[in-house]
Amino acid sequence: MWYPAIRSALFALDPERAHQLVLEGLRVAGGTNVRIPSHTPVECMGLRFPNRVGLAAGFDKNGTAVDGLGRLGFGFIEVGTVTPRPQSGQSRPRLFRVPSAGALVNRLGFPNDGAAVVAARLRRRRYRGMVGVNIGKNADTPLSGAVDDYVECLRAVRSIADYIAVNVSSPNTSGLRALQGVEHLEPLLRALLEERDRGAMTDGNRPPLLVKLSPDLEAEQLGEIVALFKTLPIDGVIATNTTIKRDSDRAVARIHQGGLSGAPLRSIALGFVRELRDSLGAVFPIIGVGGVDSPVAARAMRDAGADLVQLYTGLVYRGPSLVRNCIRAIG
Ligand SMILES: Cc1cc2nc3c(=O)[nH]c(=O)nc-3n(C[C@H](O)[C@H](O)[C@H](O)COP(=O)(O)O)c2cc1C
Repeated sequence: MWYPAIRSALFALDPERAHQLVLEGLRVAGGTNVRIPSHTPVECMGLRFPNRVGLAAGFDKNGTAVDGLGRLGFGFIEVGTVTPRPQSGQSRPRLFRVPSAGALVNRLGFPNDGAAVVAARLRRRRYRGMVGVNIGKNADTPLSGAVDDYVECLRAVRSIADYIAVNVSSPNTSGLRALQGVEHLEPLLRALLEERDRGAMTDGNRPPLLVKLSPDLEAEQLGEIVALFKTLPIDGVIATNTTIKRDSDRAVARIHQGGLSGAPLRSIALGFVRELRDSLGAVFPIIGVGGVDSPVAARAMRDAGADLVQLYTGLVYRGPSLVRNCIRAIG
């Protein structure tokens, strides 16, 4: 009811400034009792999720507002993408709204405080839902050094993350998506699984490892990734990240560089999740994300085969009531 007024005020501001204000408000609001709507908890990847609706990566990159975001009802929150060293990301402007399409375009390029700082912050959280940490590589790390960057991030966050998402699909870090090629992906995932299991021997924390994919993958590449998931003990997949395709809308097509999210991504993401469910079988854990901006869209993502659902852009356009409405629709 009240969100349209707040939204008008926020949309009058530069998108990144508006986002910072919202995060700051949520950080301040987060100080007190954090209650998550009690629904039937969902078991997935050996974890107990209070409900199926989560916040997608990139909204709270530094984990500063997890407690406040938890108050919106999310059953899980994915923090990051974090990189080993702090970095400032690409030059501004780098976040754009396309209200006529219910979309955002971003080319932020992982601005973040660095994995160790974010891990220390998350250790102090009061939020009782699941917290995933999404990891990546620094912009100035060459592809040949990528494995070391991811392993360093995993080492920093392993003991405080409920799950770890390996981001090889953001379009705004040069070369990152090349890591989806199995010749890169296999050694990367093997190194991460090994490091995770080695660390677990010291303290017992063995968070599930998920891979986040791009909707722009060619069918052949996706087939190779699916085959890889059947040979490695990967715990789940997150689909999808933003798209660099611009088929949908003239207003969207005007903003050339960056990843597109929101309503124009929905049918692409649904098709991608459906394909993954068909090829990975009935029990492989899938987190579906892309264009979920209503209970109907959340239900469609579940029907496509997602065990859990995330959203980001829908929250910007529809406001916080979207979270509870989606929980009501899909539990
Ligand atoms: C401004 C913005 C920043 C994002 N940053 C990240 C990120 O750092 N890491 C990541 O894996 N995904 C990132 N994403 C992608 C989202 O997590 C999600 O996959 C995508 O936006 C599709 O969901 P949506 O249509 O509900 O927004 C970002 C999305 C937006 C809009």
